[in-house]
Amino acid sequence: MKINVLTLFPKMFDALKESLLGKAQEKNLIELNVINIRDFSKDKHKKCDDTTFGGGNGMVMTCQPIYDAVNFADKDKTCKRIYLSPKGKKLDQKEVIKLSSEKDLLLLCGHYEGIDQRVLDLCQFSEISIGDYIVSGGEIPAMVLIDAIARYIPGVLHCLESVNEESFSDNLLEYPQYTKPVEFMGLIVPEVLVSGHHKKIQEWRKEQSIALTKRQRPDLM
Ligand SMILES: C[S@@+](CC[C@H](N)C(=O)[O-])C[C@H]1O[C@@H](n2cnc3c(N)ncnc32)[C@H](O)[C@@H]1O
Repeated sequence: MKINVLTLFPKMFDALKESLLGKAQEKNLIELNVINIRDFSKDKHKKCDDTTFGGGNGMVMTCQPIYDAVNFADKDKTCKRIYLSPKGKKLDQKEVIKLSSEKDLLLLCGHYEGIDQRVLDLCQFSEISIGDYIVSGGEIPAMVLIDAIARYIPGVLHCLESVNEESFSDNLLEYPQYTKPVEFMGLIVPEVLVSGHHKKIQEWRKEQSIALTKRQRPDLM
């Protein structure tokens, strides 16, 4: 999958050179193309924001640099275009799975008070929010989306099947996990998990998942 990102802060995406996403790029499973919107500004000072019409605090990102950057990154209009925005559809696992089957993505990161509505309309962006709170820019939301999608791309995870057992698959939270040692500070791993009895382990995990979801996220059930 090719993921194009339009941002005023390209260096923030250096964080994606680490860990799982770094390896996915090394293996060419994901191609990340981070584009600096400022490079497209026709303003002599490379300005990309201006004051709001109608008054109000803060600046708004202007149309021209974004419009030109979109047409550069997605000449053939093959990308699913997404503006990371608190006004968008709230991201959930179903949407992540759906997006993971797209061929190419174009992610637009806003800053300041947001982006001039006309360029969003002209370029036909759909909008995705990472939750009902405001962060200062679209970069971290874009990274959240990229990371979540990457886990569904074959070859990125060591074992793709593991995504089917995680929280939110089957509308359930994942069961508690334990590792070695068997005893820590007097707390002992549930006996069934060291029994080697596969069927009983599966049953225990399912029961735990259901109980945990009822207790912590009844809305999922
Ligand atoms: C400070 S926010 C602008 C908020 C805007 N004035 C509003 O009230 O809707 C700047 C940028 O951060 C990003 N952003 C902030 N919160 C977000 C969220 N919950 N989900 C996705 N993107 C978000 C968007 O790209 C937005 O353009």
